[in-house]
Amino acid sequence: MSTDATKKLVYVANWKMNMPAIQSTEWFAKHYEALSELGRTERIVICPTVPALFPLYSMILAKEQQTIMLGAQDCSVHAGGPFTGQIAAEDLKAIGAQFCILGHSESRTLLADTSITVARKCARALEHYMLPIVCIGETAQERAAGNTLEVLEGQLEPVLKILTETMAPMNFIAYEPVWAIGSGVTPTPEEIAAVFDHLKNLIPANLPGLHLLYGGSVTSKNAPELKKIALLSGFLVGNASLDFQEFKKIVEC
Ligand code: PGA
Repeated sequence: MSTDATKKLVYVANWKMNMPAIQSTEWFAKHYEALSELGRTERIVICPTVPALFPLYSMILAKEQQTIMLGAQDCSVHAGGPFTGQIAAEDLKAIGAQFCILGHSESRTLLADTSITVARKCARALEHYMLPIVCIGETAQERAAGNTLEVLEGQLEPVLKILTETMAPMNFIAYEPVWAIGSGVTPTPEEIAAVFDHLKNLIPANLPGLHLLYGGSVTSKNAPELKKIALLSGFLVGNASLDFQEFKKIVEC
C-alpha cells in the first residue's frame, strides 16, 4: 500500500519468459483468490508470455471476482501484414491484455527496438485500447558519464509526441535503470525521486493521465522505502513477481 492511503498503486508483474505457459496457468490458478484480494485495494497487472495470456484471461472471465488485469510484454510495430513471427496489438487485446509493456531494455537490446519504434508500438497499443507501459532507463556507462537525464529525455521524446497526438487518457512510464534490472541493486529513493521530478517537468500539461512507475530489483525489502517517493504510481516487478508470497509482501508492505 502507498504511504498515501488514498492512492492505489499499480503492481505490474513482468514474468518475462521465465515460466512455460502451463506453469504460469498453474501459478495463476493456485493464487487466483489471494491475488484477487490484493486487486481489491491495489491495481494488479500480470504480464505472462503470450501463450499464457488466453488461458489466464479465460480463468478471469469464468470468475465472479475480476480484479486482476493482464498485460502483454511487447507488440508488433505493425498493425498487420506479412510480418512472420510478430504479434499484433489487436490480437493481444483480444486475448486479454489490457496493458502492454513496451521498450523494455531487453527488447531494446535483444530486438533492437529504437525509441522511435517504441513510440510507434505505443500508437498500435493505443489504437486497440491497451494501456502502454513504456520502459526507459540508462545503462551503467551512461550513468557513470553523467548522462542519465539526457538518455531518458531522448527515449521519452518520441513517446510523448505520440501520447500527446492521441490524447491517451492513461498510460505509464516505467523508469527502469538497465543496471538495476535483475542485479539486486537499485538507485536510492532520492535518486529515483530526482529522476521523477525531472520527467514530470517534461510531461505536457495536457497529459494528466501519465503515471510514473519504478522497476529494477524491487523486493519486499526495498519497496517500503520506494513507496515513499511522492510521484511514484507503482512498480514493474520482474524476478520477485514469480514468487507469489514475495509479490504479496511487496503489495502489502
Ligand atoms: P527485476 O526486473 O525486478 O528482476 O529487476 C524488472 C524488469 O525487468 O522489469
